[in-house]
Amino acid sequence: MSRQPLPEHELKIEALSHEGRGIAHHEGKVVFVDAALPGEVVRAAWIRRQRRFDEARAIEILQASPDRVEPPCPLAGVCGGCSLQHLSNEAQLRYKQQALAEQLRHFGAIEPRSWLPPLRAATLGYRRKARLGVRFVLKKERLLVGFREKHSNFLVDMRSCAVLDERLSQLLPALRQQLEALEARQQIAQIEFAAGDDEVALIFRHLVPLSASDRQHLIEFCTQHGLIAYGQSAGPESVCQLTQTTPTAQDRLHYALPAADLRMAFHPSDFTQIHAFINRAMVDLALDLLDLQPEHRVLDLFCGLGNFTLPLARRVRSVVGVEGSVEMTERAAENARAHGLEHLVFHAENLQQDLQTSVLAGEKFDRILIDPPRSGAEEVMRYLPRWGARRIVYISCNPATLARDAGILAGQGYTLLSAGVMDMFPHTAHVESIAVFVRGT
Ligand SMILES: C[S@@+](CC[C@H](N)C(=O)[O-])C[C@H]1O[C@@H](n2cnc3c(N)ncnc32)[C@H](O)[C@@H]1O
Repeated sequence: MSRQPLPEHELKIEALSHEGRGIAHHEGKVVFVDAALPGEVVRAAWIRRQRRFDEARAIEILQASPDRVEPPCPLAGVCGGCSLQHLSNEAQLRYKQQALAEQLRHFGAIEPRSWLPPLRAATLGYRRKARLGVRFVLKKERLLVGFREKHSNFLVDMRSCAVLDERLSQLLPALRQQLEALEARQQIAQIEFAAGDDEVALIFRHLVPLSASDRQHLIEFCTQHGLIAYGQSAGPESVCQLTQTTPTAQDRLHYALPAADLRMAFHPSDFTQIHAFINRAMVDLALDLLDLQPEHRVLDLFCGLGNFTLPLARRVRSVVGVEGSVEMTERAAENARAHGLEHLVFHAENLQQDLQTSVLAGEKFDRILIDPPRSGAEEVMRYLPRWGARRIVYISCNPATLARDAGILAGQGYTLLSAGVMDMFPHTAHVESIAVFVRGT
């Protein structure tokens, strides 16, 4: 049976979806349109028909939005890494704040008393963590390194990347060439990239053991370019420097938090915030919004390697950090020791379960900082009033779960005082936000 060719139609774009696509209607059905902005009239080519909606791509802009800009990256139309490069940064932040406001209304039935100005920093070359796919295309005898294309499993042939840290972006052509020359060129599945302020690490995921010569070539390439080479033969626990046989305590990169006079150490596989400059500003803002007093006892939930815990410890009497990963609490304790900080403790505990049996049950805190993963902190919200804190700052990477959790907090007598977006992931549709809750008033 021959498939009907997919159509092209003129569409009026009505809104922007949460993943950054234009939303239009055609013959009563919703169409999500790539590279199209609200208010625009575009000619769109259909990509896919689904039962409840269709997907299309703008191939001609007939009436452009005043918010439209020339994408800074020539690959913006194809690469799945970014979805909003054609939208000005002002407008990106405006839409992100709108999305947060809608979710708060929709899931939590609440509105903040006031909006914080968006937290902003560099919008290009900001990404200090990335996972790049690697594929050797037999037919073309060519190896590709890059993000996935939009709507496909193919990799973009990435010669540079406008949002990646320049230290990696500029190396992409040489890296591609080096990988293509390896004996194991068909068995390198991906490269993870992690950068500190002064060091850059690459983790090569190899599906077969590396030959001595491949290993040597990768070590030499990385040394020549001032990078640290890691190999990964299996799960995350197998990540190890290529020059060594077992992971060592020296496997650390570092980032500074200048306002708190801290130099945080982390392993290249650890969770760290993607945008180092937004992170600095976010930590400072969160501490300000907590309205700390020196005599306070503070709880930092989902504390990771102590990104907020240590700066908090500089300002208050005592801090407790809680985190699900034992390795991360060890890293946090290592960071505390390295700075001679003693009035803070870390617990490894699953915070997405009933907290009545938690090590923290029965404790009291003056302030709480929460920075959960995308799934949010529903169980924490249900237990939270018993800790007695008058003020809470919630950092979120998912407005939907923040809104749900804000709704639960509102039901427990907390008011959403203020909220705002932070430009942690410019040019993508990810929304990072911060919210302040106070009890009573
Ligand atoms: C968004 S990160 C924040 C980390 C840290 N606050 C920072 O700024 O670097 C979320 C953290 O939650 C931790 N986490 C994920 N699921 C968890 C769970 N069920 N219980 C406790 N911690 C969890 C992760 O290991 C990660 O460190």
